Amino acid sequence: MSDAAGGQASLQPQKGDFIAPPEVVDTDEARDALPPQEEFWRPPVRFGSVPVEKEPLGWDRRRGFRKLFPPVALPFQVVERVSFGHPTLEPNRLFWGDNLHVMRQLPTESIDLIYIDPPFFSGRQYNVIFGDQNELRSFSDIWEGGMPGYLIWLNARLYEMKRLLKKSGTIFVHCDWHASHYIKTDLDKIFGYDRLLAEIIWHKNSGGIGRTSFSKRHDIILQYSKTDDYYYDGKAVGDLREQEKGTFGGYFGVDEDGREYREVRKGGKVYKYYMDEPRNPEDVWEVAQIPERDKLERIGYPTQKPIELLQRIVNSSCPPGGVVADFFMGGGTTCVVTSGARIHRETVESSKRDGTTNQRVKRILKVDAPPRRWIGCDQSRVAVAVTVDRVMSLIEIWLCTLLLPSQLSGLLAILFVAVFCNQ
Ligand SMILES: C[S@@+](CC[C@H](N)C(=O)[O-])C[C@H]1O[C@@H](n2cnc3c(N)ncnc32)[C@H](O)[C@@H]1O
Repeated sequence: MSDAAGGQASLQPQKGDFIAPPEVVDTDEARDALPPQEEFWRPPVRFGSVPVEKEPLGWDRRRGFRKLFPPVALPFQVVERVSFGHPTLEPNRLFWGDNLHVMRQLPTESIDLIYIDPPFFSGRQYNVIFGDQNELRSFSDIWEGGMPGYLIWLNARLYEMKRLLKKSGTIFVHCDWHASHYIKTDLDKIFGYDRLLAEIIWHKNSGGIGRTSFSKRHDIILQYSKTDDYYYDGKAVGDLREQEKGTFGGYFGVDEDGREYREVRKGGKVYKYYMDEPRNPEDVWEVAQIPERDKLERIGYPTQKPIELLQRIVNSSCPPGGVVADFFMGGGTTCVVTSGARIHRETVESSKRDGTTNQRVKRILKVDAPPRRWIGCDQSRVAVAVTVDRVMSLIEIWLCTLLLPSQLSGLLAILFVAVFCNQ
């Protein structure tokens, strides 16, 4: 059989096809899947007894999380295939469904980076007005079983994520003051206490104004690795040292090639830092929350995270060409960033009526980061629809960076006809 181009017929599943689930091996969860906990959790005698379980909440010694959440093998149905994109990378995949069941059907050690932004145990109901102006329920963050019920639900998913990560992989779990302390305790039990790489504080400069306590203005992102041989390129997202000029002590000089540097003496050693090189980022991140009236990236999805936040995570922790997964995808920020979207800042000048000029910094969205592949999953169909729309709009932005706007409309028409004919 040959396809329209005369080559071998593609074995890729087509629209409407069902992909059979992998054979379900209804064995117990691997007994050695959790790191040894005994030593860590045995409290020193002087503390008396500490009220912590040895295993993560919800874990059964014999059947793991499968006792509370039995496996359900469902076929995936191909709803849409969009046939353009990177010439060599595997296709991206977007799943609509409960992430536990989706993850259980994905292959072990196949993902480089997982970022998740699950419900925070906030006790809130998030709604979104979408498309036809009908209000559609987006997702609920109210838990009948209280904190234990929430943790059991989350732990079963974190356990599956650990299985999916490659040995060099890392996971970022986004949470806030409601449950971060409990989540961290259980992450220690699932990944290992010494696998915590960072507790990142995202200072978002927005949130409630406190009257009876300090205003809550930060989220917490916990980063764990699967092994001690993990991928990390902090300099890919670090600020240039130029910004340090005048703010730090040390000796500033220029070398024979004309490069500026700072020299610091510490403990009898001399350290030389070049100003045109990035420094390793710190664990407190100043990234502004997307403003209410923002036109560049706000899509109206509640709890949407800024592109600049995900830029740091994706570009530092997934090698170019690697696979990034977000199993609580929401409005698809991770998918957009993984496809290469980046926010740039440029200084623009505008003339005022009195003849003087005004300078301001403008944010610009470009698609110019090295592409990686992504897997997105959400149980809300609104989230899936929003993400599809957002990723598709990147083509337009990408073309804008290559072409003049006048050349663009014709090309877009051709491209979209090609895309839709191809399905
Ligand atoms: C906080 S939002 C994510 C927002 C996202 N980071 C963004 O930038 O737009 C959490 C998402 O998780 C989804 N969700 C909650 N439980 C889920 C589950 N069991 N499986 C899949 N998605 C789930 C909700 O529908 C919601 O869209």
